[in-house]
Amino acid sequence: MNFLIGFRNFLLRVLYRVTRPLIFLMEPESAHYSLKRIGVFLGSNPLTKGLTSLLFDYGNKCLSIEVDGIKYRNPIGLSAGFDKDGELTSIYPSLGFGLAELGSFTGEVCPGNPGKRLFRMVKSRSIVVWYGLNNFGAEKISKRLTNVDFGRLRIGINAAKSNVTPEFELQESIRDYLKTMTLFKDIGDYYTINISCPNTQDGEPFVDPDNLDALLIAVNEKIRPISDKPIYLKLAADMSLAEIDTIIDGVLKHKLEGVVLTNLAKPEGNNEHIAAEYPTNLGQLPKGKGAMSGLPLQRISTNVIRHVYRKTSGKITIIGVGGIFTAKDAYEKITSGASLLHMITTMIFDGPQNISEINRGLVKLLKEDGFISIEQAVGSRNPLPIIAQQDNVQAGKDDKAA
Ligand SMILES: Cc1cc2nc3c(=O)[nH]c(=O)nc-3n(C[C@H](O)[C@H](O)[C@H](O)COP(=O)(O)O)c2cc1C
Repeated sequence: MNFLIGFRNFLLRVLYRVTRPLIFLMEPESAHYSLKRIGVFLGSNPLTKGLTSLLFDYGNKCLSIEVDGIKYRNPIGLSAGFDKDGELTSIYPSLGFGLAELGSFTGEVCPGNPGKRLFRMVKSRSIVVWYGLNNFGAEKISKRLTNVDFGRLRIGINAAKSNVTPEFELQESIRDYLKTMTLFKDIGDYYTINISCPNTQDGEPFVDPDNLDALLIAVNEKIRPISDKPIYLKLAADMSLAEIDTIIDGVLKHKLEGVVLTNLAKPEGNNEHIAAEYPTNLGQLPKGKGAMSGLPLQRISTNVIRHVYRKTSGKITIIGVGGIFTAKDAYEKITSGASLLHMITTMIFDGPQNISEINRGLVKLLKEDGFISIEQAVGSRNPLPIIAQQDNVQAGKDDKAA
C-alpha cells in the first residue's frame, strides 16, 4: 500500500511539473483565485471529495498528535494567507492536511494593498507577498463559518489588525483584535494572534513590549472567559534574539499556549534573492516593499524555532513555518522543537500531492530514529541545557504527584 501511495504521488508530481509552466503563465493572484475555485468545487460534494481523497490523502496512526488538548490527525497544516476568507475548509482533509489556519481575519473589511501584490521568485523558490491583509472582514466570514462541521480537520483562526489606516491607535487596534476573536469564539480549535504582518500601513506596532503587554492583558480579560481555545502568537522572521526574547517573555508572562514561528522574511538582509530575480519577476514590486516566503525563510525560521525551544525549555507550543518543501525540512523543524507545522509555498512550487508525500516521509524518518510518535521527536535534536532538563523532570514529578 505504501509503495502504491508513493507511486501515486510520483505520478502526480510529474503531472504537476508538466502543468506548472501553464499555471505560471498566469498572474500569481489570478492563478491563486482560479485554483481556489477548483478547490471550492472539489469540496462541494461527497463524490469529488472522495476522488480527491483517493488521489491525495494519506494517513498513519503514528502521525497523530495532541497539542494543548487538541487532537490532530497529523502535524501538517496549511499556513495563514492561503485561505484568507476561509472558503476551502471542506477540501483540506482530502488533500491530507491535519490542520488549516484560516485568515488573517481582521475586524474591518480590508481591501489590501493596491496594484500587483504577489510575485514568484522561481530561482529562490519563494513568493514575495505584498497583499496587506485583504479579507472580507471578521463579521461576514464568521457568519458563514458558524456551525460548519470541519470534521477531522483542526482549524486555526488567525486574527490580525485591520490594515485600513497609516495611524496607529493602541486601544482601537486592541478592539480590532478582540472583535475578530470574539466573533470566532465558537469557531475552530485555536487562535493565532498575528502581530507580524510585514505589509501593513502602520508597521508592526505590537512588537513594542508595552503595546504587546496591553494587547495580551485585554485578550486574557475578554477572550479567555468566553473561549477555551489555545492562543498562539505569530512572530516576525527578522527580529534580533533580544527582540525575540522580549516577546517570548510577554508570551510567558501572559500565559499564552505558544507561538507560530515565523511570518515572512523582509527583503533587507535577503537582498541576494531579490537581486537574482530583479527586474524579470519583481519589476512591479514597490521598492523596499513585500516579504518573502519559501526557501529564503527556511533557515531563518528554523533558527528562531531552535532558539525559542531552548529559551522556553520546551514548555510552550511551537508551530513551525517557513520553507518546508520536503519531509526532511519538516522533520528538521519538529526535531528543533515544533509540534505542528504550517506551509504554503511548497503547494505552489511542488503541487498539492506534496502534503501527503511529506506526511509519508515523516513516518519513515520517525521509524529511522526509533520513535513511534511525533511527540517523541519534538525537540529531539535540540537538546535543552542541563538545568532546563532537570526542571522538566521535576515538573513531570509534580504532575504525577498532582
Ligand atoms: C500569499 C501569502 C499570503 C500570506 N498571508 C498571510 C496572512 O494573511 N497572515 C499570516 O499570518 N501569514 C501570512 N503569510 C505567511 C505564511 O503564513 C507563512 O508564514 C509563510 O508563507 C512561510 O511559509 P511557507 O514558506 O511555507 O510559505 C502569507 C504567505 C503567503 C505566501
